[in-house]
Amino acid sequence: MTTVDRPSFSQRLRERSWTLHQRAEGAGFMKALMNGEIERAGYALMVSQHLFIYDALETTECDLRDNEVAGPFITERLHRVPSLRADLDALLGTDWAERAEPLPATRTYAARIREMAAWPGGFVAHHYTRYLGDLSGGLAIGRVVARVYGLDGPGVSFYRFDRIDKPKVFKDEYRHRLDSTAWEPDEQERIIDEVLNAYRLNTEVFADLARELGMGAPR
Ligand code: HEM
Repeated sequence: MTTVDRPSFSQRLRERSWTLHQRAEGAGFMKALMNGEIERAGYALMVSQHLFIYDALETTECDLRDNEVAGPFITERLHRVPSLRADLDALLGTDWAERAEPLPATRTYAARIREMAAWPGGFVAHHYTRYLGDLSGGLAIGRVVARVYGLDGPGVSFYRFDRIDKPKVFKDEYRHRLDSTAWEPDEQERIIDEVLNAYRLNTEVFADLARELGMGAPR
């Protein structure tokens, strides 16, 4: 063992993306949500945007389940589409599908995810950005929104991973998988770039949500 170990891929990924993580976390819409300043309808609008994003992730996944690189990251235990549908039933009534529309940034984000059917490493970049985030800050966000909107279960089930007992253990295993996958040369760099892209796409969705709710110009 050398005294100065090179940071692992998962460490470099986290370090290189943390600035954009903080920008996504600090988006005006997110801050307002965390401060309890978004009305329930605005929260429901965000949930509907999540549905379009996770639907893109979880349908693209079907093409990659048997892929040598992406396949090992894929597990139904993470699936969010069923909980998002249940949350929308609770928030908007069961006829929500007639009214739910993707905002322009959501459309762009979902389209980019669907393109990843042709690039397994890029799919992992998007998979990591959403699900590891959901299992990290997402758990705290879930506690805040449950309190703000007085919801328990339906309406906030997106934030509960009933099939993952220990998020920390799951995330450690996920990072280990990132580090032990036999990536093609330069692939790690391309994946880091795609994670940065995924953060930007998320930040754009927050900006569109803010615009839609008349919150003024995004920062
Ligand atoms: C209010 C908003 C947010 C808060 C408070 C928050 C908070 C956090 C915290 C505290 C961690 C570190 C957890 C740990 O050390 O294990 C984390 C990790 C992470 N977050 Fe967020 N986050 C927010 C928004 C987002 C957004 C919008 C995304 C992307 C869609 C995201 C993606 C991630 C990812 C991928 C990680 C894992 C990084 C890694 O360990 O490799 N977060 N978040």
